[in-house]
Amino acid sequence: MRISVFGTGYLGATHAAGMAELGHEVIGVDIDPDKIERLKRGEVPFYEPGLPELLQKHVESGRLRFTTDPAEAAEFADVHFIGVGTPQKKGENAADMRFVDAVIDTLAPLLTRPAVILGKSTVPVGTAARLAARVRELAPVGDDAQLGWNPEFLREGFAVEDTLRPDRLVIGIDKDRPGRIEEVAREVYADAISRDTPFLVTDLPTAELVKVSANAFLATKISFINAIAEVCEAAGADVLELADAIGHDERIGRKFLGAGLGFGGGCLPKDIRAFMARAGELGVDQALTFLREVDDVNMRRRSHMIQLVERELDGELKGRRVAVLGAAFKPESDDIRDSPALDIAGRLHLSGADVRVFDPQGMDNAAKVWPTLSFAESAADAVTGAEVIVVATEWKEFRELDPYGVADLAARKVIIDGRNCLPTERWIEAGWRYLGMGRHAS
Ligand code: UGA
Repeated sequence: MRISVFGTGYLGATHAAGMAELGHEVIGVDIDPDKIERLKRGEVPFYEPGLPELLQKHVESGRLRFTTDPAEAAEFADVHFIGVGTPQKKGENAADMRFVDAVIDTLAPLLTRPAVILGKSTVPVGTAARLAARVRELAPVGDDAQLGWNPEFLREGFAVEDTLRPDRLVIGIDKDRPGRIEEVAREVYADAISRDTPFLVTDLPTAELVKVSANAFLATKISFINAIAEVCEAAGADVLELADAIGHDERIGRKFLGAGLGFGGGCLPKDIRAFMARAGELGVDQALTFLREVDDVNMRRRSHMIQLVERELDGELKGRRVAVLGAAFKPESDDIRDSPALDIAGRLHLSGADVRVFDPQGMDNAAKVWPTLSFAESAADAVTGAEVIVVATEWKEFRELDPYGVADLAARKVIIDGRNCLPTERWIEAGWRYLGMGRHAS
C-alpha cells in the first residue's frame, strides 16, 4: 500500500520504517527540515534500538522516503497515519491538540482522491469524531476522505518489535459511516492479522479510550506497588519479595510491579493528566480522581529519594558529591521527558549538592534541559569521589557494575538503588551500605 506518516518522532519514524518493512511504500512527513534531512540520510534523530538498521535498509531500498511537503504525501499515499505529539499544555493538565489539528487542517484540503486517515496519536476522547467531520468538510473529495482511530501501544526501547509484532490492533470507526476504513486497515496490517493478532474494531470514542485506559492502568499498577513500597519502608518489609509473591497470582501478574522511582516519559504522566482533564469536561471527574493519587504517589517517590540522599549525608547536601547514574526515563531510550532520574539530579543540584550525572544515551538531551548540571564522561567518572551513588535508570551497564571496582573510586560506600535493579547481595558482600526502594537498608 502507499502510506504516509505525519510526524517523525519516536512514534512516527518507527511506524514509517515498520510499514516499509511490512512491504508498503512509505513517505514520512515532518515540519522540521533538519529532522527530515537526517532521516533522508538514513539517520535516526533519537536512540531506539534496531531502528537505524531498519531505516537505512528501507531508505536504501527506496521503499521509505521523507519530505517536509504535505502535498507530496497527499499526492502519493492512499492511507495517511497521524503520529504527531499531544504534549501536556503548559500550566494545565489537558493535552495540547495543536499539532494534530494542524495536520488535519493541512492534509484534508489536499485530498483530491479517496483516502483513509488513521490517527495514532493519543488524544482526548471525542477528538476523532470532531476531526472526521472536519476532514469531510475540508477535503475536496468530501465523504471519500475517511478518518478512523488506530491507537498505538508501542513502548520506547522496544518500538520496532512492538510495531512489527503488536499484541493487539484496535481500529476505531464511525459506525454510522464505516466506509472503507476497516478494509484498508486489514490490508495495512495483513501480516499481523495472518499471525492471529487480535484485531478489534470499535467505535471512535472506544478506540480513543482504549489507549488512555491502558496507560492509566499501567500507571496505576506502578503507583500501587510504589504506595505499598512506602508501607513496606515504614513496616520494615520488602516490596520486591512482596511483588514476587502477589505477582504469582495470574489475576495480578508480576509485570509493571517494579517499585522504584516511578514512571516518567512522554506518555504515562501526561496521559493520566489529560485523561482527568477530559473526564472533568465530560462531567465525570469523580470517576478518575484516583488518578490524582496515582500521580501524587508517583511524584512522592522522587521526593523520597531526595530525602534518602539527604539522610545519608546527615542532612547536609551543600557541596556534597553525589553520583546520579541515569538521566533517561527508562533504559534503552535517550528520552528525558519527565524523567524521574533527571528530575532527581536537578533537584539535588538545586539543593546545593555537587551532582555528577551519567547516562549511556540521554546526556545530550539532558544537557539541553539542564545545562548547569555536571555531566560525567562515564559511569566510573561519575562515581569517582561520590559520597552517595544513586542508580536512577536501570541500564544494563549500571546493573552490571562491579561493586569492588566502584568501591575503589567512590569516597564512601553508599549506594541507593532507585530501581531495585542491582544484585543486592553482591553489593552488601563488597561492604556497601545498600538502600533499595521499599526495602530495608542493609
Ligand atoms: C508507555 C506504554 O507502556 C506503551 O504501551 C504506550 O504505547 C506508550 O506509553 C505511549 O503511550 O506511547 P513508554 O512510555 O515507552 O510506554 O514506557 P513504559 O515502558 O510504559 O515505562 C513508563 C515508565 O514507567 C518508565 O519511567 C519506567 O521506568 C516506569 N516503570 C515501568 C516503573 O517504574 N515500574 C515498572 O514496573 C514498569
